[in-house]
Amino acid sequence: MKKNTLQEKGLKLEGKRVFTRCPWGDAPIYDERIFADSDGVWREWNPYRSKLAAYILKGGEHFPFSRSTTLLYLGVAQGTTASHISDICTEGRIYGVEISPEAIRKFLKLAERRENLYPVLADASRPELYADIVPPGVDVIYQDIAQRTQVEILIKNAELFLKRGGYAFLMLKARSVDVAAPPDKIYADVRRKLVEVFEVLQERSLKPYQKDHRVFVLRYR
Ligand SMILES: C[S@@+](CC[C@H](N)C(=O)[O-])C[C@H]1O[C@@H](n2cnc3c(N)ncnc32)[C@H](O)[C@@H]1O
Repeated sequence: MKKNTLQEKGLKLEGKRVFTRCPWGDAPIYDERIFADSDGVWREWNPYRSKLAAYILKGGEHFPFSRSTTLLYLGVAQGTTASHISDICTEGRIYGVEISPEAIRKFLKLAERRENLYPVLADASRPELYADIVPPGVDVIYQDIAQRTQVEILIKNAELFLKRGGYAFLMLKARSVDVAAPPDKIYADVRRKLVEVFEVLQERSLKPYQKDHRVFVLRYR
């Protein structure tokens, strides 16, 4: 991604470090570094804590997040990555689905201070249960749930919520799909399932930031 493109979206790239401009104040969300300059308050986006930051630093080419993006985030946890997306999509909506009540409690606290975050306590494998909360036609689905059926869960959610031509990010953990199988075989199986529904725009390892993970960037047909 070009430095200019990132700048327009409120990101700053300095060597192997990436920052988001934060319009929501200067309190840290996790243990990230924060500083202010004449352009505003900046939060460092840690690639060891967030696979999306790792994707950017690994030269990811697609970044369909802008000021008004509507996003469905599956496996939002406490909101580490979602907090940076919330810095960028200031006028959009981020629906964060999470199965763990403990994790979502922290995300709820974050949502009290950021009006573009919408916490949803639910199992992402049963999207019909949150169809009254999440609207159809979202721009992007981001999925990071480290489950055996990750691909099937993504496809189910895309069919209900993703607009045609919309993007999906699948953060795939090979060992969660099958501990015993060689990762390359897992990736090939995953790719075969994905191409039935999506165009695969990019596939990339997230080493050295994230062990054993591969990102698939997809466009819904
Ligand atoms: C790797 S963590 C996510 C980290 C987060 N995406 C971030 O970068 O800030 C995976 C999360 O997925 C959640 N999860 C696992 N299975 C799920 C499911 N079926 N539905 C919703 N959330 C799920 C877990 O509870 C966990 O919080």
